[in-house]
Amino acid sequence: MLMTTKLFTAKKAADGTYALDDEELLEAAHYLKAGELVVFPTETVYGIGALADKWQALKNIFLVKGRPQDNPLILHVDSLAMLKRYVQPLNDVELFLIEHFMPGPITFIMQRSRLVNNTITAHLDTVGIRMPSNKIARKLITYCGEGIAAPSANISGRPSPTNSQAVVHDFWNKVPCIIDGGDSAFGVESTILDLSKKPYHILRPGAISAEQLNAALVAGGFGKLVQEQQDYYLPNLQAQDIPKAPGMKYRHYAPEAKVKILRGDIVQMTKTAKDLVKTVHAQQEDAKIVAYISKNLYATWHEQLKSQLSKVIFFEDYACHAEELPKLAETKTQIDEVHKLAFQAANGLFKALRQADLDGANLILVEAVEAQGMAQAYMNRLTKAESK
Ligand code: TXA
Ligand code: MG
Repeated sequence: MLMTTKLFTAKKAADGTYALDDEELLEAAHYLKAGELVVFPTETVYGIGALADKWQALKNIFLVKGRPQDNPLILHVDSLAMLKRYVQPLNDVELFLIEHFMPGPITFIMQRSRLVNNTITAHLDTVGIRMPSNKIARKLITYCGEGIAAPSANISGRPSPTNSQAVVHDFWNKVPCIIDGGDSAFGVESTILDLSKKPYHILRPGAISAEQLNAALVAGGFGKLVQEQQDYYLPNLQAQDIPKAPGMKYRHYAPEAKVKILRGDIVQMTKTAKDLVKTVHAQQEDAKIVAYISKNLYATWHEQLKSQLSKVIFFEDYACHAEELPKLAETKTQIDEVHKLAFQAANGLFKALRQADLDGANLILVEAVEAQGMAQAYMNRLTKAESK
């Protein structure tokens, strides 16, 4: 169904955060209260939201996105008080984790209360709850007085949106209201931690790692309760299984262009790049090849290989500046200097994949970043976007 879309543009303040005029924010809240969908920014990626108690609007999210019905939605809240409405009474560990990591780029899976609509949970007895640190998102929730259920604001299977161009591309004239809040600070979706059974499992890696969670839990006297898993290659579920995390069952984050990962040391990555370029050009002489890589790797490449690429996007140039991230995100998450490149790579990934499509690329070569922390989130998304 086509409709007119209203675009509200937030202003960037000196400290790097974005704010929207109250009047416009109230108008956006009004759409949600009237049972309409609103696309809004968060510190991870943009979300397409419906109010938690608007059954028809919740259904519309699935329709507009082309999302499978059995993939549950994350419920966004503005405060601990609101969170408590949607879950069973919290235990000490849950309360500790919430106070320590929220608001921020993390989602906790907990036992749901009866208030949560089945369309949100896809009939599971648990619910995924997130308290965004992004001020626009939180204020929007406050103005609604109700949680906002929101998946990432992309057509199902596509790369998640990290700026307003991406949501305008996917949802212009399909939702009545889009809020432009600038570039997403993290650029990958929240960490999903399942607190419904012990040991706690990370269902989707994000900016907050298992190691960080355990460090906090140990300091709080609870011990290591989160399963630390070094591989981000989560098992693929069979079609009949209940999806526990995105990408387990459905193809995800995929652009139109073919995605191939460059792995190993510089020599191996360069060889893979050369081989792929040769194969693709043999198939199609005028094939467009885009590379999303570090400046380091590019510096080692010979002119001949460079000349066969139609575009190079550098991690370092395409990301929000890593040093700005904590400030931008208004989050409790600290960014480790060692992992700065991984943050940059992750931050720009979805934007680069979407850019490759806009450029009509046939192939996009993407450099692997093997490390802990944010690199796990990066490799998790990248692996799922890779063409098999
Ligand atoms: O950063 C984010 O989490 C973004 C922003 C908008 O908040 N949202 C997001 O939503 O990434 P989405 O729908 O793209 O991914 C949420 C995933 C679902 O695919 C689902 O697998 C998982 O969260 N999920 C939600 N509720 C769940 C539950 N009760 N049990 C297990 N997994 C759940
Ligand atoms: Mg998604």
